[in-house]
Amino acid sequence: MARGKLILIEGLDRTGKSTQAAKLVESLSNQARLVKFPERSTPIGKLINQYLKESETHLADQAIHLLFSANRWEVAETIKATLLEGRDVVMDRYVYSGIAYSAAKAVPGMDVQWCAQPEKGLLKPDLTFFLTNSESELRKGFGDERYESSGFQTKVRHEFETIFKNYESQDYKNNHIVFLDTTGKSIEQVHTSVGSAVEEYIQKNSDVEEFMYF
Ligand code: TYD
Ligand code: MG
Repeated sequence: MARGKLILIEGLDRTGKSTQAAKLVESLSNQARLVKFPERSTPIGKLINQYLKESETHLADQAIHLLFSANRWEVAETIKATLLEGRDVVMDRYVYSGIAYSAAKAVPGMDVQWCAQPEKGLLKPDLTFFLTNSESELRKGFGDERYESSGFQTKVRHEFETIFKNYESQDYKNNHIVFLDTTGKSIEQVHTSVGSAVEEYIQKNSDVEEFMYF
């Protein structure tokens, strides 16, 4: 039996990631599983949730970065097991969010390389979508969690672009990373674009069995 595919939906806050990840899971046939990061229900996830929700919770920037990464390691084994059962896994945020949000803080020494280090050895997605929306940073109605301000989001977007254009340029050329501008598009239109890119990828790569790693 062929292993399932690991598909990632990435992007800034308020670009429609969670909606699209949920719709993609629904549309895939093989009991696909949705995994959202941060996974707030685990012991580490509860600390992350507290840090995001309560502005008085202080954690060193390095410490919270490592907790976000550890949160992925907590779930890593079950993701691989699910793929080996032949089920697809759709992730809502992953390593790229981890690097981009932390690097955007511009803490001395915490550059992209430093931020990427604890992610080494995690499964790399077979296919990554990066959703952009030129109105997302201007939109009203950001929540009141940490990071949810348009000024910080602009910095994060810049970090995402650096990561995708340099650090992951090979994957970008190989079409494993799909940039999707959702500006002015309906949920259904974006879903159709995502769905057809996934279908095309699966048709062309149905025989890929080995895993890729960061
Ligand atoms: P988010 O997906 O926005 O959660 P929710 O939909 O529940 O609001 O993620 C919460 C925040 O965490 C978001 O601002 C991005 C940030 N984040 C990191 O800083 N590092 C990470 O590794 C991840 C996965 C998220
Ligand atoms: Mg959010």
